[in-house]
Amino acid sequence: MRIYIEDNYDAMSVRAAGIIAAEVTVNPACVLGLATGTTPIGIYEQLIRKYEQGELDFSEVTTVNLDEYCGLDGNSPHSYRYFMNHTLFDHINIDKDNTFVPDGMTKDMEETCENYDALIESMGGTDLQLLGLGQNGHIGFNEPGEFIAETHPVELSENTIKANARLFDDISQVPTMAVTMGLKSIMSARTVLLVVNGKQKSMALKKALFGPITPKVPASILQLHPNLIVVADKEALPV
Ligand code: GLP
Repeated sequence: MRIYIEDNYDAMSVRAAGIIAAEVTVNPACVLGLATGTTPIGIYEQLIRKYEQGELDFSEVTTVNLDEYCGLDGNSPHSYRYFMNHTLFDHINIDKDNTFVPDGMTKDMEETCENYDALIESMGGTDLQLLGLGQNGHIGFNEPGEFIAETHPVELSENTIKANARLFDDISQVPTMAVTMGLKSIMSARTVLLVVNGKQKSMALKKALFGPITPKVPASILQLHPNLIVVADKEALPV
């Protein structure tokens, strides 16, 4: 495990974007596992800046996202597909046909999940998986409870619904179900890049990195990953 502790959110974003940029530079046809949430917004801004300055070329890159809310289609401003398009994909030269987000509108959840895993496997897994951290230690939408290997539907915990309500007009609008990549695809990434900021995440991060490996803290499984890079700000990981 390699840990970078940065002064603030911006420095964290610059550091993490540098790691992703290095991957894209040395491996232009790489497969990036991407995340949503507020944490990676600064990273995506940095990647856009690097693209605009001619430093990065995404034309051969493929992306697979971690998760999606159920019941929201890609045109809904709260869907993760919408977030990815507006926060990153619309601003770089990626081929949108090579960007994948689980289908939250599916009528056949079982098939959708199986296909998502098969898709990731057909790509040979991800080269780099970017992860944020939930306040309850979740990664993607792998909620506390049990370690689940495959892509699966999930009933969101009360804690997660409350934490994500800030992005909606009203808590009643937050979907209660989501579909998430499972831990097998996350753990088989060649590199896992976990980014965490803010003191509201410090307890979850401490448990994830230094506590027992337990499904009560899904991110704790990352301790077993052979190439885990953590980029945190000082509030999330006080020294
Ligand atoms: C959501 C996403 C996670 C993300 C987490 C943290 O629940 N499914 O992938 O890591 O929120 O979000 P934020 O970065 O906004 O704190």
